[in-house]
Amino acid sequence: MKALITGATSGIGQSFAAKLAKRGWSLILTGRNEKRLKELQESLGGNIEIIAADLAKKEDVFKVYEFCKGKDVDMLINNAGYGLFGKFEDTDLDDEVNMINVNITALHILTKLFLRDFKKKDHGTILNVASAAGFMAGPLMAAYYGSKNYVLKLSVAIWEELRRDHSNVKITVLCPGPVDTNFNNRAGVSFSVKPITPDYAAEFALDKAFSGKLFAVPGLFVKLGTVAQRFVPQKMLSAIVYNIQSAKKTSDGKEKALK
Ligand SMILES: NC(=O)c1ccc[n+]([C@@H]2O[C@H](COP(=O)([O-])OP(=O)(O)OC[C@H]3O[C@@H](n4cnc5c(N)ncnc54)[C@H](OP(=O)(O)O)[C@@H]3O)[C@@H](O)[C@H]2O)c1
Repeated sequence: MKALITGATSGIGQSFAAKLAKRGWSLILTGRNEKRLKELQESLGGNIEIIAADLAKKEDVFKVYEFCKGKDVDMLINNAGYGLFGKFEDTDLDDEVNMINVNITALHILTKLFLRDFKKKDHGTILNVASAAGFMAGPLMAAYYGSKNYVLKLSVAIWEELRRDHSNVKITVLCPGPVDTNFNNRAGVSFSVKPITPDYAAEFALDKAFSGKLFAVPGLFVKLGTVAQRFVPQKMLSAIVYNIQSAKKTSDGKEKALK
């Protein structure tokens, strides 16, 4: 069995790689950090191929797909992604478009291309990494939450199309709350609640994907939150999320400056 994992150089992606390698899977790992990819290739052992790519660039997304072509991939894990913090009017436009390219466009392209291949052989699994943020609007991280809403809703829609086709191809969407990774350093904030480990998130998601489940929502607190938010009016929910986000601190422990 073979999997392509995007964003494999750290955090949840690295945990996916370790867990699948342990189960004897062959892997194709991608990320921008070539040195990290080589280290992982050596440390994980087994049959591991690597390809450095910046998924913010469309040509690199197609380069990754071409690299995988003819290699009989069984599983696509669309994990690469990051967040940006700040009021929408203040966040840098280039950074934000870059994030949308990674979180949405690259995932969209790879999902479509692999789905077509998987449908042809009536076999394969797509595991998309969204977030609990995908269930709601996210003031102070508006574009990030929006991007994860896209990933979540796209995955749910594809799941229904596959169900109608009685297809053996499966899709699962991982929606974690806070996970202890590099994510917050890159977004420039620290957690306001206790995070789960990336190993736990990855194991949980793989179990759900292998049992053909659509949703993987790890952690009781987050699961209850995703159920409860259905009964809260959108405007009230946004006010709650604003308060949660504004309580976050910078990675050096200071209050995040909000204009
Ligand atoms: N941590 C959380 O609290 C949390 C919660 C919910 C959802 N998530 C989601 O989980 C996923 C994994 O994040 P993480 O928490 O594991 O964070 P992380 O440790 O920062 O890992 C992010 C991964 O994405 C890759 N990546 C980022 N930009 C890229 C680009 N332009 N091109 C190619 N790869 C890129 C990084 O690789 P390179 O640096 O090598 O490019 C890295 O391997 C993301 O989609 C994130 O939105 C995280």
